[in-house]
Amino acid sequence: MKYRIGNPFETDAVLQKGRECDKENIEYFQIEETEGFRLSYRMTPQDIIWGLGENQKGMNKRGGVYVSYCTDDPNHTPDKKSLYGAHNFFVVDGEEKFGVFIDYPSKVTFDIGFTHSEFLDITVEGKDFDLYILKGTSLREIVQQFLSLIGESYCPPKWAFGYQQSRWSYMNAEEVEKIVDSFLYYDIPCDAVYLDIDYMEKFKDFTVDDASFPNFEGFVKKIKDKGFRLVPIIDAGVKIEKGYDVYEEGIEKNYFCVDEKGEAFVAAVWPGRVHFPDFLNPEARRWFGLKYKGLIDWGIEGFWNDMNEPAIFYTNKELHKAVEKAKEAQNQNLDIYSYFELRDAFVGLLNNLKDYQDFYHKSEGKLVNHDKLHNLYGYNMTRAAAEAFEEIQPDKRFLMFSRASYIGAHRYGGIWTGDNHSWWEHLLLNVKMMSSLNMCGFLYSGADTGGFGGDVNPQLMIRWMQFSLFTPLFRNHSAMGTRRQEPFAFDEGTLHILRNIIRLRYALIPYIYSEFMRALLNRDVYMAPLAFHYDDERSRRVEDQLLVGDALMITPIYEENAGGRYVWIPEEMLLWKAVDYKNRSYQIYKKGNAYLEADMQETPIFIRKNHIVLLGKHGSSVEELCHDELEAIAFVDSKATYVYYDDDGTTKEYKNRQYKEVLIEIEKIKNDFQITIINKGNDKLKKISFEILDIQGNMTKKIVEVS
Ligand code: NOJ
Repeated sequence: MKYRIGNPFETDAVLQKGRECDKENIEYFQIEETEGFRLSYRMTPQDIIWGLGENQKGMNKRGGVYVSYCTDDPNHTPDKKSLYGAHNFFVVDGEEKFGVFIDYPSKVTFDIGFTHSEFLDITVEGKDFDLYILKGTSLREIVQQFLSLIGESYCPPKWAFGYQQSRWSYMNAEEVEKIVDSFLYYDIPCDAVYLDIDYMEKFKDFTVDDASFPNFEGFVKKIKDKGFRLVPIIDAGVKIEKGYDVYEEGIEKNYFCVDEKGEAFVAAVWPGRVHFPDFLNPEARRWFGLKYKGLIDWGIEGFWNDMNEPAIFYTNKELHKAVEKAKEAQNQNLDIYSYFELRDAFVGLLNNLKDYQDFYHKSEGKLVNHDKLHNLYGYNMTRAAAEAFEEIQPDKRFLMFSRASYIGAHRYGGIWTGDNHSWWEHLLLNVKMMSSLNMCGFLYSGADTGGFGGDVNPQLMIRWMQFSLFTPLFRNHSAMGTRRQEPFAFDEGTLHILRNIIRLRYALIPYIYSEFMRALLNRDVYMAPLAFHYDDERSRRVEDQLLVGDALMITPIYEENAGGRYVWIPEEMLLWKAVDYKNRSYQIYKKGNAYLEADMQETPIFIRKNHIVLLGKHGSSVEELCHDELEAIAFVDSKATYVYYDDDGTTKEYKNRQYKEVLIEIEKIKNDFQITIINKGNDKLKKISFEILDIQGNMTKKIVEVS
């Protein structure tokens, strides 16, 4: 049900417009008109509140305050209320079950039992927004309704499911090539190496520094010939510099955001002073988007969009005020309060909320204050790129993910979760966030594996990799000045374990890709809380385990020096302890609480009852994987079925149902298993080797030729 309050700005978050209902009869909420609107819902003690995408705290959002206002804050401590995304969708899951989406592009505050333990209070700052209420009988059904409303998620190329290596401070071509060569030397699979801001000339978008990356086109080709793609960063701010074409054209065509005098707004980011392209203006969006073509013509096939909240280091106005304060303070004897005031004048320059009120977008001939549309900025930068890719090479899938986002952006790209730290707490936060992101349509997502800020230790690196091997975006990224995080930057024992984990990821690509695409095509999620499939009270409250696709449950280890962890097993399951993709040991777990032992080199993976997981051999990159022979591990009590999906991995033909499916069915008949395979068009697949475990843990091995 859609309720329109006032006259909202068209965000394009929702695709199915639907009919509007009478706003005098909004169900569930008490509504109060304040300076904006306040909506209150009285929760029952059993209610779980799922969703809200990229946010702090648990999968169950009760107990927190969350402010939707895209924020560049690199210190994700638990007290922070805003991160980079604004994802205003949540589900109330109790006796009453309903989903809520507030389509409003500026600040919305969700106080979920923080101020008053029983109340879920939503404060919308403005008076114009759309409210959607989705009723259903289960969490999963409501999420599926929402995903249908907002449209198909972005689909990356298949190579983007490989492992990806990044670091802020790969300073030149030799350094990048050395990273690539080390992956080859140590025989570690990897598909992409990232270029952070240092590849650009003076941090200018769409330029390449000739001194540190000479003959860029040739370099891209050389690296591609070695089996790797380069993925450059693109920043939101355009450097103000005479003669720089992007700046000159933007000024000439009025494509930048403006100040109250109508002049291009000035802020400072990496290159010093910049202008911000007005991504809300379709013409400016197209202009900026087509700039990606230069790099594409040089062989680039993927990008990451950064600093698009937009992040602001300082503005002239606020810097001037701070400097004046410092001048005044020079000869004074500052007491604690005046000293703090002086300090805050400088510290507060970074991402000062006041700056967002000082610039404007052009929309349908009118100027609209940025603050009122703040959450649409990063979204429309991603859209600029995606719309241009469609124009440049309509049938090609490009890799694209962004830092800032709003619902709707999930159709144009994925997201990564920004500047986390090498903290165990952030590994756990990553686990908790993944399912909430999926519920908001961001299927292609992941965190900086190993942590961006701070120094990672070997065991945190290993445990984080054991988790990220299941996330669609599997990228190891770290900040300049921190300990190096490439697998070969560690001792030999750690390197050996990390290599095995990455190989396991590649071996699992048939399953991971198939499940990702199933989720995408069926408006479903790839990673889910246990509550998606198990409705008992104990399973609904599990915060540190996840379902991955239809067949797997993972129980990441997120504590230092832990040789295992307590787990909740919601039904009989088969534990597969993976040391590498070949060395496997199995154990049956009964329903209930259990302690799971897992040495540092073991990745624990649970297979659900009557389910099948497929794996292939590892390869040095996704394109190298052959998949003519697969292995299946199945845990079968009565009957298990699996639909193995594959496609060309590069085009959008999947949208025209140009994909291949293999239906696999295993049925227990007396003491044997009957296997049926129906192949719909997969002419590569020749053979599947099965390891089938029954409920007693007896294993049956079978090999089936596929025709
Ligand atoms: C901020 C991004 O979040 C981070 O990933 C990147 O390395 C730095 N910007 C430098 O570009």
